[in-house]
Amino acid sequence: MSVTYRKPLKQQQFLPGKLFKFLKNKYMQKKKLVIGLFGFGCVGKGLYDVINRGNETGQVAFIKKIVAKDPLKKRNISPAHLSFLKEDILNDDEINVVVELIDDADAAFDIVSAAMRNGKAVVSANKKMIAENFDELYRLQKEFNVPFLYEAACCASLPLIRNLEEYYDTDTLQSIEGIVNGSTNYILTKTCAENISFNKALETAQSLGYAESDPTLDICGFDAAFKLSILLIHAFGIYIKKAAIFTSGIHRITEADNAYAFARGMKIKLIAGAFIQEDGSLCFFVLPKFIPRDHILYHVDDVFNGVIMKTTFADTHFFSGRGAGALPTASAVLSDISALGYDYKYAYKKLTGNRRKKTSTNFFLKVLVSFPVEKAAIVQPFFTSIQETFTNPESGYFTGTIHFENLQRLKEMDDTISIILMDVCDTGVAKQNKFEEAEVEESALSKPDKLTPEKEVRYLKIFGNKVDTKEGKTFVMFTKKQPPPAARLGD
Ligand SMILES: NC(=O)c1ccc[n+]([C@@H]2O[C@H](COP(=O)([O-])OP(=O)(O)OC[C@H]3O[C@@H](n4cnc5c(N)ncnc54)[C@H](OP(=O)(O)O)[C@@H]3O)[C@@H](O)[C@H]2O)c1
Repeated sequence: MSVTYRKPLKQQQFLPGKLFKFLKNKYMQKKKLVIGLFGFGCVGKGLYDVINRGNETGQVAFIKKIVAKDPLKKRNISPAHLSFLKEDILNDDEINVVVELIDDADAAFDIVSAAMRNGKAVVSANKKMIAENFDELYRLQKEFNVPFLYEAACCASLPLIRNLEEYYDTDTLQSIEGIVNGSTNYILTKTCAENISFNKALETAQSLGYAESDPTLDICGFDAAFKLSILLIHAFGIYIKKAAIFTSGIHRITEADNAYAFARGMKIKLIAGAFIQEDGSLCFFVLPKFIPRDHILYHVDDVFNGVIMKTTFADTHFFSGRGAGALPTASAVLSDISALGYDYKYAYKKLTGNRRKKTSTNFFLKVLVSFPVEKAAIVQPFFTSIQETFTNPESGYFTGTIHFENLQRLKEMDDTISIILMDVCDTGVAKQNKFEEAEVEESALSKPDKLTPEKEVRYLKIFGNKVDTKEGKTFVMFTKKQPPPAARLGD
């Protein structure tokens, strides 16, 4: 089991012996990396194969022990290398690198935190574990002074995190937007363009090792939200937990949505996005989005990921590549292992400096919302303006402009409707809403069901609209604008 090892520079013969030895030890010779590998599934086996395949540059590290879960599974590796006890890696003093590639986020957190406490460097691809436990993982890195690298956790083979840490340290980012989940992109490619059923496409994605063992992580958009949570740390210096990221997956997309896209020459892609508004605040979400033919993401199909970074000086950069699969993911893991050879650590410069961004929910989106026909009257008042309406006896849709907070409320109220982003509106529009927002906060309208009747009447007068849902809850719309003229159902 072997990997690369950086050869000493040729100039060695020109340096005096002692100085050369000192410099060689300090800068030129990579550390000997002895790996304990957790997980021998899609990625773990991929890493094993990649390491064993080796390359011309020699040897950087070797895998001493592999720990998996199921002793009954047949595997093509020597039993001497295999164990089912985590202590066989965690308590082995010779092992200085733990590579965690398992599919259980809780067990992974136990393994990773124990490894760090034991002074071992850690490489992981587990976005769920990292996004859910970042505070503690960050603290452990500082307390035990150990590197913790996780390039493969965001878009597998795309080199995003180290670039965000290093290259985009000086050229500040204005936005980051992209397709960060390979399996949903694969499913959308098959359902949208090739007319294959959703379930069939999901099954194939799983059999090819693209989808997570728990498919809801992918199709409900949670995997994309975990990745966005990690990207926000390195792009904008802010840690937002998945629960605070507005997320709508691809599982609600209807055949009518696909037909809408097809008829207009567009595709639907699941997008994780974050952008800085004019006032410097940061907005973010995970949503399916219509992508027109001339958009750079239009051609990012199948299991590929594509991420666009807009910067202040360098304009736009686009990263594209394989966002899942055994070897591409293993390649990113191997790159982290190699970086450990020269003591690379994330510095978290944006997180620790004074460049942290404030977050905002004060912006407008242009969306298509589709629903079963009986819900049309509930959905309509959430819109600030409606451009298009369509209903048939079973279902319908509205397209139009909606305040982001109203979209959040609409989804909270009814999680079965399909929401597809058309565009983010000019951020200047959100500014006009500032006055109303301030009044809303003062009035504690954030808990509409706790309003007294008088308050409700007063605020209905100011803010417009009331919606009674089937569950008997009352929602008050938080905007001064009157609702648009009633949509003509049946158009
Ligand atoms: N697949 C991809 O394309 C991809 C891309 C980027 C990131 N990732 C991430 O990489 C990680 C691994 O994904 P995968 O696709 O390789 O998963 P997988 O194919 O389902 O394999 C999971 C492996 O973890 C082992 N395992 C589970 N619980 C364990 C425990 N408590 N102790 C030791 N081993 C345990 C399993 O052991 P048994 O073999 O004994 O069942 C199996 O070998 C996940 O965090 C995933 O999110 C995957």
